[in-house]
Order: sequence, then structure tokens, then C-alpha cells
Amino acid sequence: MLRIAIIGCGNMGLTYAKAFLKDNIVSQKDLLLIEKNAEMKERLRPFGNVSNKIDERIKSFDIIILATKPQDSKAIYADLKKYIMPSHLLISIMAGITIQTLQDNLGHKAIVRAMPNTPAQLGMGITGFTASKETNIKDVLKADNLLNSTGKTIFFDDESKLDAVTALSGSGPAYFYFIASAMIEAGKQMGIDEHIASLLVKQTMNGAFHLMNTSENNLDDLIQSVASKGGTTEAALTIFKDQKLKEALVNGIIAAEKRAKEFSKS
Ligand SMILES: NC(=O)c1ccc[n+]([C@@H]2O[C@H](COP(=O)([O-])OP(=O)(O)OC[C@H]3O[C@@H](n4cnc5c(N)ncnc54)[C@H](OP(=O)(O)O)[C@@H]3O)[C@@H](O)[C@H]2O)c1
Repeated sequence: MLRIAIIGCGNMGLTYAKAFLKDNIVSQKDLLLIEKNAEMKERLRPFGNVSNKIDERIKSFDIIILATKPQDSKAIYADLKKYIMPSHLLISIMAGITIQTLQDNLGHKAIVRAMPNTPAQLGMGITGFTASKETNIKDVLKADNLLNSTGKTIFFDDESKLDAVTALSGSGPAYFYFIASAMIEAGKQMGIDEHIASLLVKQTMNGAFHLMNTSENNLDDLIQSVASKGGTTEAALTIFKDQKLKEALVNGIIAAEKRAKEFSKS
């Protein structure tokens, strides 16, 4: 069985620990969870061996997953460089940190860079990933097996696309929550209790998702199927167009990509 060390076990690191255990990819004794946040460390105990520092022990693990915030990466490099070995496969999920940056700072070649999203917690995530040219095919497939324990995976040959994946699906859940929150707010302003408005919006999203996913019609057709001429939906869509809602969303997502690229330069 694989031995896996996860550095940074917050939202995403813990999600991986749970997914690997659920899929029997790893056993608890073969999982090392390195986490510096004291509160988090207590929550991690049921899932593996917990440590607050990178040390000699990491050498006996096959795969190292880096799941700290990009801002914390510099502090990790100095410690990890001492113990990382050529046989290790390193998987980084840090937004905007390139393979080149990791190779330069760690002196290590076999690196998979991945961008998951939070529905991974339910096994319903999507992860875009790529690998350094020095990573052998077996290790790429191993990484794919690990990543798809949290949902679907898509391999990208071109690493620069991962910044767009970060902006689109990495940050994507927040955009849907933002839209849902605006719809619930509208419901409240029209006199509907918040919990009822929330139910109406969430079930509408759920139903619309399934229709979108199974329908043979494209998105414009689906919009037209709800918006009859001179009707209520058209009244809403007219305001959205006048206030350039679509442009604002597109611009926001492109700004997220730009931020990911800034991380890669810092
Ligand atoms: N959340 C998302 O939606 C999402 C999606 C895709 C990718 N990502 C990427 O996943 C990474 C983790 O995100 P997250 O949301 O899981 O962050 P998070 O909840 O803040 O988890 C990171 C954890 O790492 C800990 N940490 C920091 N420095 C450490 C060190 N030197 N050694 C050990 N642990 C350390 C942090 O402790 P402290 O709290 O004490 O700092 C924190 O508990 C980020 O790089 C992000 O770009 C996140």
C-alpha cells in the first residue's frame, strides 16, 4: 500500500486524507498529516499520524502532497528540501505555484501540479492537473488515481492552463454561492422567508444543473425555453443585460486568473 504525507491539512488536505481512507488507497498508519494549526491538529487525529513539522520521517513516504496556502510555500521549501528524495512524487495543489518554482526551490524533479475544488469534500470535485516532463507515466497515473478519489480529473499538457482552471473551477463554487446568495436576497426583498427562499433557490440550481447536463439543447436554447417574449424572465434578463452582469462575471473570472499568474511570479 502507498504511504502518503500531506503537508498543510486545512480544508483541502483533510479532504484528501478522508477521500484516500474512504477509497482504501491508504491506511491510517501510512498517512502522515503535517499541520501547524493547533486546533486543526486535534481534528486530524482520527485520520492518521499527526505532526507539526517536516522532519526525517517524511523520507519513508512514497508521495508528498503540498496543500498549504501559496503564501506559506516559502516557509515550507527550506524544511522540505532537506528531506525530499528523488524517489518521492510531489503533488502540489497550491494556486499559482508553478512546477518550475517548485523544482527550483526544492531541487526535485517529479512533480504533479493539480487544481481541485471544494466539492471534492463530497467526491464531486473536479481537478485539472499537469506533470513535469521528468515525472514518469506510472507516477502520473498514480497521481490521477489519488486525485480522482475526490471527483473527476482532467489532464492538461500545457501547465499555463492551470491558472485558468484555478479561476474557473477552483474558485468556481464561490461564484455559484454568490449568485445563490443574490437570488435569496431578492426572495427576501419580495417577502419570502429566508429559509423558504433558500430552498427555492437551491432546488432550482439543482434542477437546472441536471437539465443543463442532460438536455440536448445548448445554454441559449435553455434560457429561451424559460424566457417567453414580454414575460417575467425576459424582464429580469433585460436588467442583467443592461447592467452588464455577464461582462462583470467574465471580467471577475479573468481577474482571478490574473491573480493566479501573480502568485506564480512572486
Ligand atoms: N479551498 C479551495 O477552494 C481550494 C481549491 C483549490 C486549491 N486550493 C489550494 O489548496 C491549498 C490549501 O487551501 P485550503 O483552503 O485547504 O487552505 P487552509 O484551509 O488554510 O489549509 C492550509 C493549512 O496549512 C497549514 N499550514 C501553513 N503553513 C504550514 C506549515 N509550514 N506546515 C504545516 N501546515 C501549515 C495552515 O495552518 P494555519 O491556519 O495555522 O496557517 C492551514 O491549516 C491552497 O494553496 C489553495 O490554493 C484551495
